[in-house]
Parts: sequence; structure tokens; C-alpha cells
Amino acid sequence: MANTTGLIFLGPPGAGKGTQASLLAKFYSIPHISTGEILRGAITEQTPLGQQAQSYMDKGELVPDSLILELVKERLGQPDAEKGWILDGFPRTVPQAVFLDKLLEEQNHTSERVLNLDVPDEVILERLLQRGRKDDTEETIRRRLEVYREQTAPLIEYYRDRGTLHYIDGNRSPEEVTEALKAAIAL
Ligand code: AP5
Repeated sequence: MANTTGLIFLGPPGAGKGTQASLLAKFYSIPHISTGEILRGAITEQTPLGQQAQSYMDKGELVPDSLILELVKERLGQPDAEKGWILDGFPRTVPQAVFLDKLLEEQNHTSERVLNLDVPDEVILERLLQRGRKDDTEETIRRRLEVYREQTAPLIEYYRDRGTLHYIDGNRSPEEVTEALKAAIAL
């Protein structure tokens, strides 16, 4: 993998983005930046960000861009992200992707790979109900899936058009998914 490569994980809730991003971050020694994790940390610490984000997350809605964009800019500007990074959960809308493009252009960042994990809805529901995070109730999972289809799935086309998108079948063992991801990244 080139030193300055950024990896972007796309895929519905429960597709395995966090699981795989964490493994690959260790493997490539680059930071795993999960906007969901950052927001959950802020909720636990009851910071102003957490207080504003909580009601959106509990309902399965996206938090407003005004809470997310500067946070990502600040995180990507930290020294550990100079040689590469993995974004998990960002971008999630076309305006967020446009913001990221501008940011990377300003930083003279050269390349990114977008890894789209594909998993059927019924598998997602089963996985997330078993995990049982606060936003893993059946009603909230269904809303998260709707939000994904309405607001995040258009990013597949956005990235496909520029040839940086890789489809990965996420409905198999975690080990098999990791191997498929490494193969796509090595291309
Ligand atoms: P976020 O934390 O990003 O949640 P999500 O996208 O809903 O994704 P999940 O964490 O549920 O799933 P995942 O794909 O990471 O799968 P995982 O590896 O955990 O976002 C949460 C909320 O924050 C959003 O709803 C929104 O409100 C807000 N937010 C975050 N970013 C935002 C943004 N950019 N803009 C606006 N709002 C934002 O795996 C799931 C389960 O499956 C685990 O139990 C795991 O062990 C299991 N599993 C994983 N892989 C496999 C496998 N291959 N086989 C079997 N089980 C598996």
C-alpha cells in the first residue's frame, strides 16, 4: 500500500466496517478513524458534542454536518494520519464526500481507495440484534438501514465514477473478508 493512501469504508450498518477497519489499521499501522466511535466517546463523557449528537444517534438519524465536518478535519490533521488513515463511517452523505475531497486536495493527498462491504439486510439485522449496542434495537436498525439507503448509498455511484471503488462480499467469515480487503488494497 502506498504511504499516503487513505482507505474509506462504505457499507450499511453492521456490514463489518468497524471490525475490518480495526484489523487493517493494526496490519498497516495507520489510524482507524471512526466517527461513530468518536461520537459515542463524546456521549460517554457528556461533552457538548455528545449532548448534541445523542438524540440523533438514539433515533438512527445522521448527526448534522455542523457537528461532524470540523471534527474529521481536525482528526485528519493530526500527525499520526500523515502517512495514511482508515475512515469508518465518514463520508456518509454526498456533501460530506465533497468536503473530504476538498480537504484532501488542500493537503495534497494523492490517492484513496473506497471499500464497499456488501451484506444483505436480514444478515445485518441478525448481527446487530445479537450485538445489542444502544442503537441496535430492531426499530432503530431499520431506520439506520433506511438512512443508509437514502443518504449513504448514493456515494457508491459517486466513487464508482472515479474508479476507486472496490466491492467486497461481507457476508462470509471475518477472516475471509479481511483477506478479500487486503487483496483489493494490494491491486
Ligand atoms: P457508526 O458507529 O458508524 O455505526 P454504523 O454505520 O451503523 O455501523 P455499525 O458500527 O453498526 O456497523 P459496522 O459496519 O461497523 O459493523 P461492525 O464491525 O461493528 O454510526 C453510529 C451513528 O453515529 C449513526 O447512526 C449516526 O447517528 C452517527 N454518525 C456516525 N458517523 C456519522 C457521519 N459521518 N455523519 C452523520 N452521523 C454520523 O459489526 C457489527 C456486528 O457484526 C458486530 O457484532 C461484529 O462482531 C459482527 N460481525 C462483523 N463482521 C462479521 C462477519 N463477517 N460475520 C459475522 N459477524 C460479523
